[in-house]
Amino acid sequence: MDTKIIRDKMIDYYKGDPKRIQHFIKVEAFATLIAEKEKVSKEIGIIISILGYVHDIGIKIAEKEYGSSNGKLQEKCGAEPSRNLVIQSGFSKEIADRVSFIVAHHHTYENVEGLDYQILVEADIIVNIYEDNISKDIIPSIKKNIFKTQSGLDLLNKLYN
Ligand SMILES: [Fe+2]
Repeated sequence: MDTKIIRDKMIDYYKGDPKRIQHFIKVEAFATLIAEKEKVSKEIGIIISILGYVHDIGIKIAEKEYGSSNGKLQEKCGAEPSRNLVIQSGFSKEIADRVSFIVAHHHTYENVEGLDYQILVEADIIVNIYEDNISKDIIPSIKKNIFKTQSGLDLLNKLYN
């Protein structure tokens, strides 16, 4: 199943917020690129694409309800809306549950289990280093402690060597 429906719903959801829209379009593109090179299954590929689009769905709610976009709040606020969006877009309950679980943990870098979760984390960091102007000094520790896929590492090296 195509994930364009999720992309378009997320563009509507973050209408008027170009920073957020550009962020998830980029994370989805890098996540899909890594997934393709890692030769993941079709189903995992779909989950990764959906995650790229929806992973930060909780930011808007966290900012509105708590006036904060801290990572833990975003995770907590993203679980339900991401599950609902995936179900409403016609995907299975299994896919919706997996997406929701990863959205609820995507700033948690311990115990990353599964290539879908790992690849989302790598793509999000690749984009955040650039968008948040993260110091290049910490890239070696990011490489060592968080990155696991060869394709993610290659990409990180080529972007920021
Ligand atoms: Fe993100």
